[in-house]
Amino acid sequence: MSYAVELVNISKSFGSVRAVSNVSLSIRKNEFFSLLGPSGCGKTTTLRIIAGLEEPDTGVVKLDGRDVTYVPTHKRNIGMVFQTLALFPHMDVYDNIAFGLRMRNYSEADIRRRVREMLDIVRLSGLEHRRIHQLSGGQRQRVALARALIVQPAVLLLDEPLGALDLKIRQHMMVELKRVQREVGTTFIYVTHDQTEAMVMSDRIAVMKDGVIQQVGEPYDIYMHPRNRFVATFIGDAINLVEGDYASPGVVKTSLGDINVPSINEYVGKKVVFAIRPEKILIGGEVSSDLDNVFVGRISLTIFRGAFIEYRVYVDNMEFVIFKPHVGVSYLLLKPGDMVKIGWRREDGILMPE
Ligand SMILES: Nc1ncnc2c1ncn2[C@@H]1O[C@H](COP(=O)(O)OP(=O)(O)OP(=O)(O)O)[C@@H](O)[C@H]1O
Ligand SMILES: [Mg+2]
Repeated sequence: MSYAVELVNISKSFGSVRAVSNVSLSIRKNEFFSLLGPSGCGKTTTLRIIAGLEEPDTGVVKLDGRDVTYVPTHKRNIGMVFQTLALFPHMDVYDNIAFGLRMRNYSEADIRRRVREMLDIVRLSGLEHRRIHQLSGGQRQRVALARALIVQPAVLLLDEPLGALDLKIRQHMMVELKRVQREVGTTFIYVTHDQTEAMVMSDRIAVMKDGVIQQVGEPYDIYMHPRNRFVATFIGDAINLVEGDYASPGVVKTSLGDINVPSINEYVGKKVVFAIRPEKILIGGEVSSDLDNVFVGRISLTIFRGAFIEYRVYVDNMEFVIFKPHVGVSYLLLKPGDMVKIGWRREDGILMPE
């Protein structure tokens, strides 16, 4: 089976800026794949190279197994949706969505059937005769999505399409985009600097920094097994990091004391970064004396976050972030200034090279 998109050792510089550095990716058919990284890390450049809007300095681009590195955009069967939508403001929803089929000389009967299907998929039925300026931001995004999908591209490229929307609509559109992608089965390549968007929608994520792919994996895998400090801190709402020496198998020596960790032989004798996610830390009455790691700290802050409670706990001069589901009266039991035990299981710790 060939991949929907393959990048092989792609590099691209603009003057002295190396925007994309030796990037290799294999994106599967029907996959929702995200390129995630901070501003300027090379996401858009990578997408433009896939689209054929930019020529790489070195490397090969393949679509469905075929080398298209020097094939022009219009012969690549690729659709695109960007943050600035470039919808036709003087046309209504129906005509915007129908545009690609009209350009391809479909019969009006076929167009009507296909537009109705698309309206249904993006949940805009009933709004087909609205003008674009009579739609909300989220509805406009769905028109743009429908207009791109109706010509059935093999791959749809999306560059920060939700960037201009406010938080509530964005949260709604994340789920909608994922649902639409499942329904149409098109390969989506989605560019974002927002880790939540990438986590919510993607089958797999490539995390990028300075033009270099740091890690590729499923959301759970990247979240639980980040390969380095950058990925660990970029993914997720928070993480606790402690530097130390992997002195002997299963023990990291840190300024807080020994931390018991999974035994990984390759780290023995090396400097490492220990990490633990906020929801993996037990606190107060949850900490039993036979837990692998137990520390005593002082609560500095409690923050009510709705679905969970965030505790900040100082152990020496290290402030831990701890998330607890909002169950029962736990919020009331622990207060700033209280001394508490915190702890975690050996296997919940994450180890990374320094
Ligand atoms: N046409 C260009 N000419 C010169 N430099 C460019 C050009 N396009 C991109 N760059 C530079 O290449 C680097 C990567 O840019 P790119 O647009 O790919 O980043 P990005 O990850 O999409 O960032 P953002 O999240 O801000 O959109 C940046 O340093 C950018 O300034
Ligand atoms: Mg960009």
